[in-house]
Amino acid sequence: MKKGVQLWCFIMLVLLVLSPTLNAQESVADDARLEAETTLDQKFSAGNYSRRGAEGCLRCHDDESDHPASGIFANVHGKIANIHGPMRDKQCEACHGPAGNHARSPRKGQLREPMVTFGPDSPVPAEKQNSVCLSCHQDTQRASWHSSEHAFEGLSCSSCHRVHKKQDPMLDAGQQIQTCTTCHSQTKADLHKRTSHPMLNGTMQCSDCHNPHQSVNEFSLNQPSVNAACYDCHAEKRGPFLWEHEPVSEDCTACHTPHGSVNPAMLKQRLPQLCQSCHQVPHANVEFAANDLRVRGGSCLNCHSQVHGSSHPRGQALRN
Ligand code: HEC
Ligand code: HEC
Ligand code: HEC
Ligand code: HEC
Ligand code: HEC
Ligand code: HEC
Ligand code: HEC
Ligand code: HEC
Ligand code: HEC
Ligand code: HEC
Repeated sequence: MKKGVQLWCFIMLVLLVLSPTLNAQESVADDARLEAETTLDQKFSAGNYSRRGAEGCLRCHDDESDHPASGIFANVHGKIANIHGPMRDKQCEACHGPAGNHARSPRKGQLREPMVTFGPDSPVPAEKQNSVCLSCHQDTQRASWHSSEHAFEGLSCSSCHRVHKKQDPMLDAGQQIQTCTTCHSQTKADLHKRTSHPMLNGTMQCSDCHNPHQSVNEFSLNQPSVNAACYDCHAEKRGPFLWEHEPVSEDCTACHTPHGSVNPAMLKQRLPQLCQSCHQVPHANVEFAANDLRVRGGSCLNCHSQVHGSSHPRGQALRN
């Protein structure tokens, strides 16, 4: 047998032996999740909200940890003045569900009655977690959340947002970029390349181009097309030009990468290769002196400087 085949057989054998144990562990965890979920559903239909509201909860939850539950009072959700906010009505229970018997000490050998929790480790499925937030936030910004790539991938609102902190990480450029690039490592790598949009210093952030809540536009962009997104800030590239360069008006990413590149000006390829990738036989009909420095420089831009388009009467070859 070849070495590769032997190794393959060995791996399959190990998997075969291990799989019943792995499955058993998984199903225990699944059972616990299911039980918690069922209890929470029952609590919701019983609807036993506490009378003391936030005050009652803080008796046990306002601890000295570096991120105590009362952190919520430092942001919009904690403001009683906010008429649509949680503090106006069910308070903590607007998000964590009715208290029921949660505050009672559990009987010996039993667990405390659970509350709705958020984030990837919660037994509550992401979709249900999100329905809590969407009960107040189903507006135009999130109208197509359910068909977004992020919803499809099982992210919860809490994968990105923090409601018990003074500053929501998504509304701070530095924290936003850090959160997004924890999952999007390729984008992170791009940001550190030779040229990139100024995101590392916080001048720009992901949400300048993306709305991660929606699926209406491709790549969850803020605008209906890539070019429309770029024109938001680079309006001068829109023209109209007397002489257009076809790929420019079609798709900026024919030549540029949006997040960063090892080449100057975030170009996808070096010059002149970039131009030659589309223009196979340039200058079949133009002759240059053998010692023309512009040609020796190797860059097409030495002559075709108006690569985004020209409005000069003689700008047909994008030279002026
Ligand atoms: C008598 C004390 C007590 C009161 C009152 C209380 N809790 Fe708890 N709560 C606990 C304890 C202890 C835990 C730790 C988890 C456990 O034992 O299962 C907990 C866990 C939680 C959790 C899950 C935290 C985690 O890390 O998974 C949430 C959410 C929660 N409580 C919310 C509330 C809310 C909202 C209220 C008010 C309606 C409230 N609690 C009232 C004692 C209390
Ligand atoms: C009871 C209604 C309610 C629920 C439930 C609710 N929110 Fe809010 N939220 C509000 C209101 C009201 C505001 C303030 C909006 C405004 O002023 O335009 C707000 C603001 C926000 C903001 C902007 C924060 C800022 O500093 O400006 C974020 C982010 C947010 N909510 C996320 C969430 C998430 C995530 C959840 C679920 C865990 C959630 N909300 C649940 C009512 C709610
Ligand atoms: C992939 C990360 C991500 C997820 C998941 C996410 N958000 Fe956001 N959210 C953001 C970013 C980024 C912003 C800032 C957008 C801006 O500046 O316009 C934001 C802003 C907000 C705001 C305040 C501004 C506004 O658009 O009204 C609210 C409210 C909000 N999100 C609610 C939610 C809710 C509810 C969910 C879950 C259904 C959710 N978000 C899921 C990244 C996320
Ligand atoms: C707007 C919805 C919302 C409200 C209102 C709310 N919480 Fe939370 N709570 C969350 C989310 C989401 C998390 C997950 C961590 C985060 O986002 O900061 C959480 C986490 C927690 C935890 C788990 C420990 C932790 O910090 O991760 C406890 C305990 C808790 N909340 C208690 C409370 C108490 C007590 C109140 C009332 C004073 C309250 N919550 C009000 C949404 C809410
Ligand atoms: C200047 C606008 C702009 C900014 C800022 C921006 N993007 Fe993008 N992003 C785009 C465009 C345009 C595309 C689609 C075209 C492409 O990938 O070439 C895209 C595609 C993506 C994709 C999907 C395709 C892929 O490359 O995997 C992800 C994921 C992504 N961006 C994440 C991010 C993150 C995370 C940030 C913040 C660190 C960010 N983007 C900032 C414009 C931007
Ligand atoms: C918990 C992990 C996680 C976080 C945090 C996260 N994403 Fe994503 N995102 C994903 C996954 C998984 C996909 C789908 C696979 C892929 O394209 O990489 C995705 C897809 C995308 C896409 C492509 C969507 C499309 O419609 O084609 C964009 C753009 C994107 N994310 C931007 C962001 C931005 C901006 C943030 C921060 C505000 C962010 N993501 C935070 C996991 C995450
Ligand atoms: C939110 C505003 C904004 C949007 C949207 C935007 N840009 Fe930029 N762009 C900038 C800023 C700011 C700079 C840096 C300018 C400087 O350093 O002088 C820049 C620089 C550039 C550069 C030159 C980089 C260099 O290192 O020379 C290119 C190329 C570029 N952007 C292409 C694009 C493309 C393609 C898009 C669409 C996918 C786009 N931009 C969308 C703001 C934006
Ligand atoms: C045919 C390839 C090509 C396409 C398509 C293209 N560019 Fe460029 N772009 C270049 C080249 C080459 C440079 C470098 C110019 C230089 O070094 O003088 C550049 C430079 C830039 C710069 C930085 C210098 C400047 O001129 O401001 C920005 C910003 C820019 N492009 C934006 C865009 C936008 C926005 C689009 C889409 C509307 C686009 N580009 C489409 C080739 C292209
Ligand atoms: C993605 C493909 C693509 C890339 C990359 C590209 N071009 Fe073009 N270019 C075209 C197309 C398509 C046309 C219009 C059709 C034609 O005349 O060939 C055009 C037209 C031109 C013209 C005008 C020809 C005329 O007579 O109308 C010049 C000059 C030119 N390109 C130079 C460049 C230079 C310089 C670069 C590199 C910076 C470049 N092109 C990169 C596709 C591309
Ligand atoms: C020394 C100046 C110079 C350099 C360098 C140069 N060109 Fe040209 N290019 C011209 C002239 C002059 C024309 C003819 C203009 C006219 O007919 O009006 C032309 C025409 C073109 C055309 C139009 C189609 C054609 O063949 O007539 C394309 C496409 C083109 N060049 C691409 C390129 C590319 C790609 C490069 C880099 C590999 C490049 N050029 C480098 C001067 C230059």
